[in-house]
Amino acid sequence: MSSFFKRPSGRIAAVATAMSAALALPVSGAFADSGGMTFSQGDTFTEKDGAALYANVCAACHLDKGQGAVGAGHYPALAKNANLESGGYPVTLVLHGQNGMPPVGQMMSDDQVAAVVNYVRTHFGNDYKDAVTAQDVKDAR
Ligand code: HEC
Repeated sequence: MSSFFKRPSGRIAAVATAMSAALALPVSGAFADSGGMTFSQGDTFTEKDGAALYANVCAACHLDKGQGAVGAGHYPALAKNANLESGGYPVTLVLHGQNGMPPVGQMMSDDQVAAVVNYVRTHFGNDYKDAVTAQDVKDAR
């Protein structure tokens, strides 16, 4: 019995630790693989400008140029999207979600929702210059 305890168990413990660390890695790797995007830490997104918010939140599903994707799910293109003409529509989608679209605006301030909505409405071939305001977002919450 005592010979068991004389074994170099410290080394085994070290290997076990290394293995569990290695096992933890694919989890973060898989997340990074899903478009290379990760959500911000915590309850709220920290990015302030529309481009950064888009890149870190929306692009995970709608892709980097708003081209959307069809595969395991259907992620509509935001590029050249006439549905964005009315600013209230994307504000509502971002705040309340719809089907496969999560209500990511719940984790954003009014300013952040307005910034990201204004960003998509003036990029990717969209040219809607009537910017939505933080007050519009507040009213739609
Ligand atoms: C987890 C994936 C996901 C994320 C993240 C996401 N969306 Fe979506 N979005 C969707 C899906 C799925 C739909 C289609 C919803 C439906 O079928 O009704 C959608 C629909 C939309 C639409 C409506 C398009 C149309 O033509 O009707 C807009 C606008 C939109 N998203 C904007 C955004 C913005 C802006 C962000 C970032 C703040 C964002 N989405 C983040 C998945 C996502």
